[in-house]
Amino acid sequence: MLAFIGCEARLQDWPVTDTISAMELFNDLLPDPLPAEPMALASAWLATALAARQQPNPDAMILATATTDGRPSARVVLCKEFDVENGRVSFVTNYDSRKGRELAVNARAALVFHWDHSHRQIRIEGVVVKSPPAESDEYFASRNWQRRVGAWASAQSRPLTSREQLNAAVRAAAEKFGAPVPTLDNINQAPAVDIPRPSFWGGFHVWADAVELWIEGASRIHERARWTRELTTSGGNLPGDAGSVSITGGSPWSSTRLQP
Ligand SMILES: Cc1cc2nc3c(=O)[nH]c(=O)nc-3n(C[C@H](O)[C@H](O)[C@H](O)COP(=O)(O)O)c2cc1C
Repeated sequence: MLAFIGCEARLQDWPVTDTISAMELFNDLLPDPLPAEPMALASAWLATALAARQQPNPDAMILATATTDGRPSARVVLCKEFDVENGRVSFVTNYDSRKGRELAVNARAALVFHWDHSHRQIRIEGVVVKSPPAESDEYFASRNWQRRVGAWASAQSRPLTSREQLNAAVRAAAEKFGAPVPTLDNINQAPAVDIPRPSFWGGFHVWADAVELWIEGASRIHERARWTRELTTSGGNLPGDAGSVSITGGSPWSSTRLQP
């Protein structure tokens, strides 16, 4: 209760920079009738947020995973691809990280995009499989050399005894590939180095089987709609065969409006 009161007080002290009017809120409604599938509209919202440049990372999304006994964890990752045709969203990470280990035993995840400035939220739930290695290779090759060195140096989510231990790992990774040690001074250099993708790093595809689009409404009378579909899995079982299993959108989407 105290925390809530404090939060309210802080909000009252905050300068009002977002001047969206009640009329504008009322005017931003979901299409009626709802579109047959949600991904095109969701993708348009992401494109609008990217173009608006109201925050440093409009492509940031919360990724929630869980252990098999139901203990959830959540963190921010960047959306690397929003594939409307297949109905899936991609991100990249370390496969041995906490999220990677949780997805290896429970291949379901939930994602949330939130853009405060446009008063919109997208929730996606789905089944997660590793991206094809060639896709991860291609994306890794597009990253600057400092990030490629960093990917090799970090055993993401594992304990670290000191910052120096991490710095030493960065130096060792740079030396392994004949690259300079990344510093602020060489940030704009492009040394001719070949740094392949580590096998423990790559992409994941989140195949959506539920999508909710939310728009803030005046007086907390929000707009909400949820789409669901069945996915078809072939080529193996999840989560065990996460590298080889193939997913397709097995059924058309069905939709319903939800109370706010
Ligand atoms: C804006 C932002 C973007 C991030 N993008 C990524 C990302 O794309 N991939 C990633 O592995 N971690 C990313 N992180 C770091 C993660 O939030 C998290 O700290 C890290 O992945 C370890 O999470 P885990 O231990 O739960 O696996 C990002 C963090 C922020 C704040």
